[in-house]
Amino acid sequence: MQELVYLNGWIGSFEDSLISVNDRGYNFGDGIYEVIRVYNGVPFAVADHLERLENSAAAIEMSLPWSKTQLAMFAEDLLVQSGIREAMIYIQISRGTAHRDHHFAPQIKPNLLITVRQVPDIAPAMYTDGVKIITQPEFRWQLCHIKSISLLSSVLAKNRAAKAGAAEAVFVMDDGTVTECSASNIFIYSNNTLLTHPVNNRILNGITRKYVLQAARSLGINAREETFNVTDLLAANEVFFTGSVAEVVPVIKVDDHIIGSGVPGPVVRQIHTGFTTLRNSGV
Ligand SMILES: Cc1ncc(COP(=O)(O)O)c(C=O)c1O
Repeated sequence: MQELVYLNGWIGSFEDSLISVNDRGYNFGDGIYEVIRVYNGVPFAVADHLERLENSAAAIEMSLPWSKTQLAMFAEDLLVQSGIREAMIYIQISRGTAHRDHHFAPQIKPNLLITVRQVPDIAPAMYTDGVKIITQPEFRWQLCHIKSISLLSSVLAKNRAAKAGAAEAVFVMDDGTVTECSASNIFIYSNNTLLTHPVNNRILNGITRKYVLQAARSLGINAREETFNVTDLLAANEVFFTGSVAEVVPVIKVDDHIIGSGVPGPVVRQIHTGFTTLRNSGV
């Protein structure tokens, strides 16, 4: 088993991979990315991820020289070569290489990076005991639907969370609306209803979010895509966040406020099980 890098057709180790200092991803954060979870050698929801990648490319006015089929094939080949069964496939496409200038030439050729890495160990206590998150003012830009590699706001928020001994930071707008976390979507469960922010420019349209909603609905849970505010968040019976690597993570504390009875509730467990069943059935 070996963690591998694909860079514009070259394949090798992380240590040996090189990219120009003129890469626009390096200079401007001018690029997009995806993270795909691989379970037992099978990538999950590839079609959804590649569709979102194409949407991100269109949103930043980048025309991709590769079809979704080609991208899937490059990633699959790299995965097979790596021999890793529980993996994360990372796909990053930067606008390309050119002398540093904000303006970009229409003919610039994107740089394609794909990596295959082992999934990091996640402490089981995260699911059995739940985690703390912190609130942060929504200081991100208005294009959060783009899976952009310009991640400074998320980096700062996540770092503040880590310093506070928390697993995530959740963004709250000036009017109190809760959007999402630094690298995950957030859900609350109250009054027999599951709520998560609707899909628009304020959040990333999470793939896990999509399948969690599907799993919840097939369990007969009333699930709605509606905004909620920080007061609703603190008063919720249950809170959890979702993402491709950690899946479904129960939240038991927001800042210094205990959620529900301070332990992961029955609904988040049920939904995580439903999500696992759904992804095992192959999407
Ligand atoms: C800001 C943000 N929201 C939500 C998500 C969750 O998306 P997904 O479930 O597709 O991994 C991510 C994942 O990186 C993210 O960065």
